[in-house]
Amino acid sequence: MRGSHLRRLGLALVTLLIATGTLAGAALADDERYTPGSSGLGDPFFPLAGNGGYDVQSYDLDLDYTPATRALVGRAFVTAVATQDLDAFNLDLRKQDEEGHFYAVSRVAVGKDNGPTLKDMAFSHEGQELTVVPRPKLKTGETFVVLVEYAGTAHEVTDPDESIEGFVPTDDGAFVVSEPQGAPGWYPANDHPTDKALFDISITVPEGITALGNGVLLSSETENGKTTWEWSHGMPMAPYLATATNGVFSLTVTELAGGIPSYVAVDPRRTNTAVLAHIPAVMAFFTDTYGPYPFDATGAIVDFAPDVGYALETQTKANYSNTPGESTLAHEIAHEWFGNAVTLSSWPDIWLNEGFARLSEWLWLEHRGIRTAQQSFDLQYARPATSSFWQTPPAALPGPEVLFSSPPYDRGGMTLHALRGKIGDMAFFQLLRTWYVENRYGNVTTADFIETAEEVSGMQLDAFFDVWLFQPGKPTSW
Ligand code: ARG
Ligand code: ZN
Repeated sequence: MRGSHLRRLGLALVTLLIATGTLAGAALADDERYTPGSSGLGDPFFPLAGNGGYDVQSYDLDLDYTPATRALVGRAFVTAVATQDLDAFNLDLRKQDEEGHFYAVSRVAVGKDNGPTLKDMAFSHEGQELTVVPRPKLKTGETFVVLVEYAGTAHEVTDPDESIEGFVPTDDGAFVVSEPQGAPGWYPANDHPTDKALFDISITVPEGITALGNGVLLSSETENGKTTWEWSHGMPMAPYLATATNGVFSLTVTELAGGIPSYVAVDPRRTNTAVLAHIPAVMAFFTDTYGPYPFDATGAIVDFAPDVGYALETQTKANYSNTPGESTLAHEIAHEWFGNAVTLSSWPDIWLNEGFARLSEWLWLEHRGIRTAQQSFDLQYARPATSSFWQTPPAALPGPEVLFSSPPYDRGGMTLHALRGKIGDMAFFQLLRTWYVENRYGNVTTADFIETAEEVSGMQLDAFFDVWLFQPGKPTSW
């Protein structure tokens, strides 16, 4: 309060001085312009996630991981554009705690490129906020590179629903998945889904260990008993979708229709992996149904990570903690279109990711002649009206502990299937294609979807969406 009052007074003074044309006034104005970027983007579920004042263009991560000791040494170059005049800004990275988990930062440098202009800068580190003090200060529109050097002991992040994520050590490596808040558990990020960026990820591991990143494999070179795996993904990606999973894997690379490379990595302990033979057909089906595949690679990582117990749609190749069933395989691949290319803008809108992926499972099963989407819907609809399931409307979630609970998935999928019935097949599939092509590589809200649905169908759908998305209780008419 007091600060803003003083600032306003200062501004008035500066305006006056500029008006009178004094040089001192101009200098004061210059100094006044620079403020610290905010330490969070105010997401309703994770207020400290992400940071204000800049927009990341690319991450260039160099990681060295030793599974036996869980030692992780990292060097990150983050290229960003200032969106305000900055005298300080934050990155999200977990600071080493009393138990020795997570990281100590040894060096932060800022420059115009990742070489000669880099200069060491003052910084401080508290919780998951790394604050950098760039000198000279950064002007709006200026592109800058931040180098962060850090080291420590990898450790999982525990979520509000008690599940684990982040850089999760396994018996032979690590299972690396970061939805919704695991990224600061292994690299300095502007950890919010609205700040998409390009990623180059290089992981050095003991010889014999395979490391997987997003996108395409550029090289793997072994020297002195260590292998460096270099991956590059030149398409926009939200920070929670990055991966660096490593362990003993057999890696098979094939080429799909359209020349898209498919990287399939399987932990040799997972022997029942025939399901993975469906990847090309699933890719082709969603390409036909939704539009061209958005990314430069596809595949799957099937690990042995029993403590994690779920899969994540890490961009271009999903991570599976166990061999997936056919529905889960289709679910994670469908996320490349909905979730990864078309991404929520804030976490309470999770149904925009999960409802679409659930519907996609149902469409895949229908396509395979296993069960119609109507039958999948009916199985869910059979839940009694008294079930707690109906008490949580998918677009009005009470808190982050229910992000990955049944309502955003199942009632989210049902919302879409009910919409199909309401507006008809023609308009419905047109809507899904329009939604995809208009928003791919960007971020969306529930309000955007309702607007697009009304536009494409030519119908007024407020009552429909109110019943399905916003009101507790089992919908009975819509
Ligand atoms: N998005 C993943 C899926 O498609 C689920 C991620 C769950 N994450 C968690 N921290 N529980 O099913
Ligand atoms: Zn999902």
